[in-house]
Amino acid sequence: MLYAEITGWGKCLPPAVLSNADLTTFMDTTDEWITSRTGIEERRICHCNFSDMAIVSARRALAAANLDPAELDLILLGSLTMDSLCPNTASIIQDAIGAKNAASIDINSACTGFLYGLHIGTNLIRTGAHKKILVLGGEFISHYMNWAQRDVAVLFGDACGAVVIEATEERIGLLAAKIGCEADAKYAIQITNLGSAYSRLSEEFLYINWNFEGQEVFKRAVKCMARACEDVLHQLDLTTADIDLVVPHQANKRILDALARRVGIEEDKVFINVHKYGNTSAGTIPVALTEALEEGRVKPGDYILSATFGAGLSWGACIIKWGDRVTPLATTDAELPPCDKTALEILQPHIARYLAHEAKTG
Ligand SMILES: CC(C)(COP(=O)(O)OP(=O)(O)OC[C@H]1O[C@@H](n2cnc3c(N)ncnc32)[C@H](O)[C@@H]1OP(=O)(O)O)[C@@H](O)C(=O)NCCC(=O)NCCS
Repeated sequence: MLYAEITGWGKCLPPAVLSNADLTTFMDTTDEWITSRTGIEERRICHCNFSDMAIVSARRALAAANLDPAELDLILLGSLTMDSLCPNTASIIQDAIGAKNAASIDINSACTGFLYGLHIGTNLIRTGAHKKILVLGGEFISHYMNWAQRDVAVLFGDACGAVVIEATEERIGLLAAKIGCEADAKYAIQITNLGSAYSRLSEEFLYINWNFEGQEVFKRAVKCMARACEDVLHQLDLTTADIDLVVPHQANKRILDALARRVGIEEDKVFINVHKYGNTSAGTIPVALTEALEEGRVKPGDYILSATFGAGLSWGACIIKWGDRVTPLATTDAELPPCDKTALEILQPHIARYLAHEAKTG
């Protein structure tokens, strides 16, 4: 029987930090409102291309696995803020890292993109179709933010993370997953003017708008993630007492607290870094998993539960049994291009454009 071990992991956070105090300089909000509703204190803003973050996290994951990129036979990239649709962005990453023997696929299921990719990649390995796969999740969401929408703009940040999975006969890696989609609520998170359904002849075409039913998303997120967690526990005949660590999608601290209560998991088992990075969509889980490893929170043989939700409304959960190795085999000096601007300086033209549009249209 084949399994898919996670042999490498890496993250890339752009250096520019946008604090809640920074947001108050151009938006009617307060640090108290943001932290009490979401737990978010600051987020990162990307100063380069999305693929730059993806390439750095890929190189770090490959170094951790000590794997020659030419040995990869597939790249799966979860994101909705790709550099480009054609060529797809996974092929840009493939070329940059020298994975000349890989196929490359972009997966757009929004925040669930990484977990979906890990599920797909694991099962391609388990069927024998592929042997070594790079799975990435990340987002350059500040690029698509409407900075005049305070109910949305405070929630998100930019980041990317990656893992390498490799075939093994040992019963480790992702052992159970459940994914799904509540498509009846698909417009509860909607980014307008992105896609061919929108008329390019409209005056409004160049302005992104987020339709965001925050409370509906909140309720459905807790319900769907809790059910998916119960499903994967049932698949492996485990209980929450068997789970050593929870590495969930980091959208909102209150959602994570509600999920832990509903599933019956002690809060100290839940890895949380949403206060530092906000919601980085498909980036949250690989970044959190990498940080959990860096902080010594993952022990050999641990059972790790992960759960996620996002636009669609897509949702999912999985259980990973960790292998023996919790440290990287090697490191790399891969870094983003230098950044000489503050987060506010990077965003200034976008903020000015959206505030001017808002003033004109109300
Ligand atoms: C968005 C969210 C934080 C809002 O929290 P909430 O508790 O539902 O918000 P409340 O209903 O208490 O507050 C809404 C009020 O705050 C105001 N408000 C919205 N954003 C604000 C901000 N950044 N600063 C200050 N006030 C704000 C609204 O205008 C509204 O005011 P009103 O009551 O006068 O109309 C919450 O619903 C949430 O986290 N939802 C899930 C979102 C999510 O995770 N999406 C990601 C999907 S991957």
